[in-house]
Amino acid sequence: MKRLNDKVALVTGAAAGIGRETAAIFLREGARVMLVDVNEEALRATVEELGKLNTAYCVADVSDSDQVKKYVKETLDAFGRIDVFFNNAGIEGNSYPMAEYPEALFDKVLAVNVKGVWLGCQHVLPAMSEGGSAIITSSVAGLKGMQGLGAYVTSKHAVIGIMRVAALEFADRKIRVNTVHPGPVNTGMMERIEADVSPEDTRKAKQGFEAMIPLNRYAEAGEIADLVLFLASDESRYISGNTYVIDGGMMA
Ligand code: NAI
Repeated sequence: MKRLNDKVALVTGAAAGIGRETAAIFLREGARVMLVDVNEEALRATVEELGKLNTAYCVADVSDSDQVKKYVKETLDAFGRIDVFFNNAGIEGNSYPMAEYPEALFDKVLAVNVKGVWLGCQHVLPAMSEGGSAIITSSVAGLKGMQGLGAYVTSKHAVIGIMRVAALEFADRKIRVNTVHPGPVNTGMMERIEADVSPEDTRKAKQGFEAMIPLNRYAEAGEIADLVLFLASDESRYISGNTYVIDGGMMA
């Protein structure tokens, strides 16, 4: 028995990394999947790779409310319902000490990572079927400080607040809301962070991050997707309003 049979899932940030891998696993588990991303070319390539059967896609910037309303409408037009919402799109922002952090970059990171998640909850959750599950991607940076990544750390803490409010306000419709908190994951985002921290030797930057992880390696995107699948499926039917760390022991 597939774990998401008859369910419709909406995934943001679906054209790369964790979102793409999760969309693929949702499909394998029987869901119909709407893929949302701002990067049209990468999104088309992802849909090409996953196949057109049981997929639809919408190019949208999650930080723009009109575009959020558009992806909700297109999901309902394509599939008639929404059972699972993976509210995942995010950006890292370059690394600067707090005292030098550019205001425009702070605004940009919070627009995508906080407002984008907020707008997603605001417009998707009321449209979801009773008994649905929403999962927000936070980070270990949502639970502890990290030097240089001030805007990112701030944004990933903020989404815990969004999750808690949503879990309370939508509980009457049996909609569950949780956050996942990965440590470093092998995606484009970590490659960009490595290049930013140590442009002359990204391998050295990667080794530095790996040294902070007891299991001594990054996660693969599919390992995060497995946790998201559990939270999306009925196996987690009594779990809501909580934070799920997946970090190879980094927070121990
Ligand atoms: P990624 O950079 O590989 O993929 C992110 C996707 O989101 C891209 O396809 C990008 O086009 C899309 N996106 C960015 N801004 C968008 C916007 N305004 N509207 C719609 N789509 C947008 O990154 P990755 O690693 O897959 O990250 C996914 C989530 O996981 C993010 O929220 C990130 O903060 C979080 N995360 C990632 C970790 C990592 O080590 N890679 C660790 C912890 C959390």
